[in-house]
Amino acid sequence: MAGNSVVVAVDGPSGSGKSTVSRRLAEALGARYLDTGAMYRAVTWAVLRAGVDPHDADTVAKVTVEAALTIGTDPADPHIAVDGENVDAAIRGAEVTGAVSVVAAVPAVRQHLVSRQREIISAASAAAGIVVEGRDIGTVVAPDADLKVYLTASAAERARRRSAEHETDLAVTQEALSRRDHLDSTRAVDPLTLAEGAVTLDTTELGIDEVVARLVEMLERSRT
Ligand code: C5P
Repeated sequence: MAGNSVVVAVDGPSGSGKSTVSRRLAEALGARYLDTGAMYRAVTWAVLRAGVDPHDADTVAKVTVEAALTIGTDPADPHIAVDGENVDAAIRGAEVTGAVSVVAAVPAVRQHLVSRQREIISAASAAAGIVVEGRDIGTVVAPDADLKVYLTASAAERARRRSAEHETDLAVTQEALSRRDHLDSTRAVDPLTLAEGAVTLDTTELGIDEVVARLVEMLERSRT
């Protein structure tokens, strides 16, 4: 690891604080930020826009390969577009959220997006460095990352955060979250699991600043 060119992998279930922590950490390090969940969501948006059934794996794979994704990796202003159309807001809607785990379980979709992610990481690691968040970053996408973090939080706290963020009913959010977590951690290809050498951090009782400070400290220690 030379200079600033650090690669940090942040994995964990929904609501564990991954996005906020990863963006803030990238800003603190002067590094880029890649939200791989946004890529799976953007492809899901393209699948739904095309009127394709998310369970039709062959057609989903075709839509994925044909969709032109543009990904901005500035942690202060991350964005994503499909075929030139900005989808930052649309990919956070209930429709995409309800279908994304089905699309993300298609092996050809993962293969395509993982190779895109590796290109982005490779370009950034030769420059400012990058913080990458997802479900399979430490296990599959970047197993050689300088720091691998697995963020968790209690199921109740994760649902509370998501429900506050999206102003949705707590019970409905908890139900949707546990359905998605189950799909993400039991799928055949690249399920959410703790990477070898990853540090686990439970954020249930920790503030963002504290989590980010601990990660910066871990990175500094690993560099000496
Ligand atoms: O992180 P976010 O909740 O936006 O991710 C949306 C979905 O994308 C996850 O529930 C999961 O199904 C999928 N995903 C994935 N692998 C990643 C990132 C996200 O399968 N690296």
